[in-house]
Amino acid sequence: MKITPSFLLPILLFHGFNLVLAISVDDNQFVFSGFSGANLTLDGTATVTPDGLLELTNGTTQVKGHAFFPTPLSFHRSLNGTVQSFSTSFVFAILTNYPNLSCHGIAFVFSPTNNLSTALAAQYMGLTNIDNNGNASNHIFAAEIDTMQNVEFQDINNNHVGVDINGLHSVESHYAGYYDENDSFHNMNLISGDVMQAWVDYDGGITQINVTIGPIDMSKPVRPLISTTYNLSDVLMEPSFIGFSSATGPINSRHYILGWSFGMNKPSPAIDIAKLPKLPRLAPKPRSKVLVILIPIATAAFILSVGIAVAFLVRRRQRYAELREDWEDEFGPHRFAYKDLLHATDGFSNKHILGSGGFGRVYKGILPKSKLEVAVKRVSHESKQGMKEFVAEVASIGRIRHRNLVQLLGYCRRKGELLLVYDYMSNGSLDRYLHYEGNKPVLDWAQKLQIIKDVASGLLYLHEKWDKVVIHRDIKASNVLLDKEMNARLGDFGLARLYDHGTDSHTTHMVGTMGYLAPELIHTGKASTLTDVFAFGTFLLEVICGERPIKEDAHGNQILLVDWVLDHWHNGSLLDTVDPSLQDHYNVEEARLVLKLGLLCSHPSTNARPCMQQVVDYLEGDTQVPEGPELASTHQSLNELVLMRNKGFDPYIMSYHPSSLVSFGTISDLSGGR
Ligand SMILES: Nc1ncnc2c1ncn2[C@@H]1O[C@H](COP(=O)(O)OP(=O)(O)OP(=O)(O)O)[C@@H](O)[C@H]1O
Ligand SMILES: *[C@@H]1O[C@H](CO)[C@@H](O)[C@H](O)[C@H]1NC(C)=O
Ligand SMILES: *[C@@H]1O[C@H](CO)[C@@H](O)[C@H](O)[C@H]1NC(C)=O
Ligand SMILES: *[C@@H]1O[C@H](CO)[C@@H](O)[C@H](O)[C@H]1NC(C)=O
Ligand SMILES: *[C@@H]1O[C@H](CO)[C@@H](O)[C@H](O)[C@H]1NC(C)=O
Ligand SMILES: *[C@@H]1O[C@H](CO)[C@@H](O)[C@H](O)[C@H]1NC(C)=O
Ligand SMILES: *[C@@H]1O[C@H](CO)[C@@H](O)[C@H](O)[C@H]1NC(C)=O
Ligand SMILES: *[C@@H]1O[C@H](CO)[C@@H](O)[C@H](O)[C@H]1NC(C)=O
Ligand SMILES: *[C@@H]1O[C@H](CO)[C@@H](O)[C@H](O)[C@H]1NC(C)=O
Ligand SMILES: *[C@@H]1O[C@H](CO)[C@@H](O)[C@H](O)[C@H]1NC(C)=O
Repeated sequence: MKITPSFLLPILLFHGFNLVLAISVDDNQFVFSGFSGANLTLDGTATVTPDGLLELTNGTTQVKGHAFFPTPLSFHRSLNGTVQSFSTSFVFAILTNYPNLSCHGIAFVFSPTNNLSTALAAQYMGLTNIDNNGNASNHIFAAEIDTMQNVEFQDINNNHVGVDINGLHSVESHYAGYYDENDSFHNMNLISGDVMQAWVDYDGGITQINVTIGPIDMSKPVRPLISTTYNLSDVLMEPSFIGFSSATGPINSRHYILGWSFGMNKPSPAIDIAKLPKLPRLAPKPRSKVLVILIPIATAAFILSVGIAVAFLVRRRQRYAELREDWEDEFGPHRFAYKDLLHATDGFSNKHILGSGGFGRVYKGILPKSKLEVAVKRVSHESKQGMKEFVAEVASIGRIRHRNLVQLLGYCRRKGELLLVYDYMSNGSLDRYLHYEGNKPVLDWAQKLQIIKDVASGLLYLHEKWDKVVIHRDIKASNVLLDKEMNARLGDFGLARLYDHGTDSHTTHMVGTMGYLAPELIHTGKASTLTDVFAFGTFLLEVICGERPIKEDAHGNQILLVDWVLDHWHNGSLLDTVDPSLQDHYNVEEARLVLKLGLLCSHPSTNARPCMQQVVDYLEGDTQVPEGPELASTHQSLNELVLMRNKGFDPYIMSYHPSSLVSFGTISDLSGGR
């Protein structure tokens, strides 16, 4: 019996009591209770940490690490003899960042070489590679602690111990656990992060290999986990290195050896458990019961509140979303934030509705910052086409300022919607005073005349006094608003253009309201200042007569107010048309003049109509001169008109319906659906 010289190592002592290496020449054994100062041959990721832990893999994926006893050992009694008995034990732990996932494991290995650079990581555990796995020329024996189930090696599960000869396909394996003194089996979870101990024993005489594992805090189980026979004399080379191999795959586990002892032909010395280094705390610390309950609740509450916050922000974004394009920047000052308008009108609540017309609803609002009272008109507008021109126009008409025009303050654009912000007119629209049944507020003669003059002056400004000619297109009583001093102001100017721009030429909507539409407008669809004058004429008659532009005659037939007044003029009973609610409290001369002016403005022939400047002149100055040359021509044209009508000429080719007192654009929209 000969002990090979390579095994006769000098005893190395380092660093006082931290040094736990002890190899007895006589005993053929060694023990590491911690690895501080240990002389090991390390490669790959293997290191000895300052604490004395042998760290085989360091938490990176797809790496391998080896730690070998520095000198190879001779196990054979003679050159061709049998491998001697040996026993080894080691303390290990596997740490993983995931609760139930780890890879790949640790192997205690006998190898003819400590240069396993050609071996692969992952399922090869740093022992073999795809070419040499299982090849008898490897001369490898290993006890594997495997935490992955590799089908190619017919692993039984992802938590097992196996005996490997020359390759990873175990000759014998068993799922992890131990038998207690009563022979009942206890499962162990290799990746629990717990410190565990393993024993590998070989009986050279009967070629029996026992592998046992157990928790660190108990003595070696009597019954091994695996007991198999395999003649290692046929496997191992002389001499062989002993050590550990470990590898990670796609999961970044850490594999640690805390202590190791070995004995040839005798039991391995006991590892001093008390001296073992501490594991790093990667696994979650054991939590108190309170935290175990509180943390999930807190997490859920946090996720919930983040979710709510996100939902709130998304909703808020949608709620406040506006459309804005580069070209609008030049109109910046006239642009309102949707958010402000939303706040101003309490989210466009119904109790803020002032009224609704052909273009949409109008809401009363109070601007948050300036506390200014405004009227917000919501116009739905799907067509993108023409928007630029329209907004340009909005911006330019926003510059129009006149005491008889409703001031447009600005706009806001959203998807499919345009919001126009106007000065608020506290006394509402004129049609309320003229036509509403019940206890409507009554206007006296002076007020009526003043309203007419106001509207005329507003329209004159649009037609002739401002930079550009602005055609109103929708003059009617409901578009005349009264401010708090009862000044009449013309509203809605320019808005009609929206429909013009928004549609293509062959489906041009005619904008305006039945009864106010000039005959040539119906024929050609082309608006002009003179079509405005026509509508203004009807408006004059409407105010003076207190009748709608289309009224019913004594026989219940629909007739135009203009025709009705014209008939009375012709019959010499013009003053019978004056609003009966005035009783006799009006100026007869003024009434005559205004009625005749109304008829003149609403003359079917454009040539006969005055321009707004002339209208204002009549109203302001020449009311005292009823028989001036203009009025003579009025008589003449009106006579002509009566003559034409008596010949059967009907300037209107359309029949009227009671419902026609809404905007014409609306009617055509509705009839399309019927
Ligand atoms: N600036 C404003 N101040 C106060 N009330 C307003 C203002 N603008 C509109 N209104 C009210 O809202 C109602 C609806 O206005 P809108 O101009 O939309 O309808 P309309 O003139 O009756 O019809 P159309 O849209 O065909 O011109 C008006 O009748 C009026 O009572
Ligand atoms: C470690 O052991 C090897 C082999 O016996 C030896 O060559 C080397 O000097 C030792 N290293 C230390 C630091 O003792
Ligand atoms: C692990 O070791 C490898 C190779 O030695 C190195 O590249 C890597 O940075 C190490 N990772 C950590 C987390 O220490
Ligand atoms: C050792 O074994 C080899 C072949 O296995 C044989 O050729 C040789 O003679 C043996 N030597 C001894 C001393 O038994
Ligand atoms: C982990 O795996 C074990 C057995 O495979 C199972 O009983 C346990 O519920 C798993 N735990 C988690 C957190 O998935
Ligand atoms: C290990 O073996 C490879 C070839 O298989 C060689 O390239 C390398 O230098 C060897 N490493 C050591 C440390 O001897
Ligand atoms: C085993 O390895 C040897 C040497 O590397 C080689 O010659 C032989 O072909 C391999 N056998 C198999 C089955 O791969
Ligand atoms: C084994 O059985 C004995 C007797 O039944 C009992 O006292 C002991 O606690 C058992 N041991 C274990 C580990 O269950
Ligand atoms: C292996 O375990 C059995 C008990 O199952 C025991 O009798 C035998 O001595 C053990 N062999 C070694 C080498 O420890
Ligand atoms: C084991 O193998 C060796 C060499 O091949 C042989 O001498 C020995 O008798 C074998 N042992 C048993 C128990 O078969």
